[in-house]
Amino acid sequence: MKRGLFISVEGTDGSGKTTQIELMEKYLRTKGYDIVLTREPGGTNIGERIRSILLDTSSAEMTYTAEMLLYAAARAQLVSQVIKPSLKAGKIVICDRFIDSSYAYQGFGRGLDMEEIAQVNRSAIDGIMPDITFFFDISPGDALARRMASAEADRIEKEKLDFHMRVYSGYKKLALLYPERIKPIDSNRSIEEVHKEVCGYLDQITQGGAF
Ligand code: TMP
Repeated sequence: MKRGLFISVEGTDGSGKTTQIELMEKYLRTKGYDIVLTREPGGTNIGERIRSILLDTSSAEMTYTAEMLLYAAARAQLVSQVIKPSLKAGKIVICDRFIDSSYAYQGFGRGLDMEEIAQVNRSAIDGIMPDITFFFDISPGDALARRMASAEADRIEKEKLDFHMRVYSGYKKLALLYPERIKPIDSNRSIEEVHKEVCGYLDQITQGGAF
């Protein structure tokens, strides 16, 4: 199978990953690559509908297990409908969140069993893992606290700060466990500095058109 390149982007809510993804996409497009930009939960019709259920503040009674399964269901749809075909066509897929979000939020954040999350997700990801994962490393602080208190905050953002801190330290643990794949990017710097570091990794991984 012809293989493209799969990049996932992770971080706590408010880590600035959206801005960095836009810059990343622009950078790779100017280099002539064919980019597919997508997100989790979402990226397909079905996934976007699942996203609404997950993030709607009216879903307050959702159990942690139902939550974990819904994220995995949206992922299964995205892998099958978007990620696999795009990689097969030799494209670069940039995905705003992937399986590490489930380990960080449902595992470290909610306290669900990691092996159970891994098992459920084995069928969802169907053998597909990111080639590289950027973890935008910034501790949840004032920006997130303001967002949590605002009317637009979604169901997950509305969680208490200690939940977001568990998610954050979970990401740090994952980065230590998988240093070959997960690249922590100190995001306590200017947008330009952060982008420059990301570009360094992108140059390395695309060097020589190896994919
Ligand atoms: P977003 O705001 O970055 O689009 O992500 C939606 C929210 O869903 C965010 O708070 C993180 C959360 N999430 C999980 O809890 N588990 C998952 O597996 C994924 C993909 C996202």
